[in-house]
Amino acid sequence: MDWGIKNRISQIIKPGTGRTVMLAVDHGYFLGPTSGLEKPRDTIMPLVSYADSLMLTRGVLRNCIDPEIYTPIVLRVSGGNSIVGEDLSREGITVSLEDAVRLNVSAVALSIYIGSKYEHQTLMNLAGLIDKCGDYGIPVLAVTAVGKEMTRDARYLGLCCRIAAELGANFVKTYYCEGFEKVVGGCPVPVVIAGGKKIEEKDALRLAYNAIQDGAVGVDMGRNIFQSQRPVAMIKAVRAIVHQGASVDQAFDIYNKPEN
Ligand code: 5RP
Repeated sequence: MDWGIKNRISQIIKPGTGRTVMLAVDHGYFLGPTSGLEKPRDTIMPLVSYADSLMLTRGVLRNCIDPEIYTPIVLRVSGGNSIVGEDLSREGITVSLEDAVRLNVSAVALSIYIGSKYEHQTLMNLAGLIDKCGDYGIPVLAVTAVGKEMTRDARYLGLCCRIAAELGANFVKTYYCEGFEKVVGGCPVPVVIAGGKKIEEKDALRLAYNAIQDGAVGVDMGRNIFQSQRPVAMIKAVRAIVHQGASVDQAFDIYNKPEN
């Protein structure tokens, strides 16, 4: 693998633990002002120093995030859809690689929609992006299985992750499911999990714990952190699981500590 790609991946997946806590705050690109992200800066800035990377869009990065931060950026470069549009899977590439380089990103992220109407278009988006990113040494994160109608089981998620990796994605983001070790086992590149809809804090910590036990290199979690009553305490608790091998109970204690 290219030195630049390796170096950028090591900014996100920390070499010390081989793991990562990515903070996903890109939801507005098709959901608009999602609960908890109405004022992105107010939500994101207090969390930035606890995240191994920030996954977000160009607009929020430019307008809401201080350029002085050290946290690596994973820039969402696919979109062109909306929650009320014709078909969620109809995404194109929304950012040029030149602009991604100008924004000094550590990786770019793009969604693929396996089994949906625009499957082919999104897979070709991924393949084309990987070719272009290769010229710049920028890693590509493929985001799989977004959409309500998908059955998120190990067979389907395994298919999505494997196809993304076969096309050349450097790492893959998917959902946790029963039999997740099969999803990871069939995917030759690192896998991170999305958190999904907001659930009780302890359940979200259990989700992160189980994913790590089953071979995920980390989380790319959004709503279960920024919609928590105590977002900073929650991201600290998730970090304890991902980087320090904490149990669910230990992490929940961290979440409940008043000083956090
Ligand atoms: C949507 C995304 C989101 O970043 C993803 O869903 C992660 O956030 P959450 O933990 O809230 O599910 O990529 O396309």
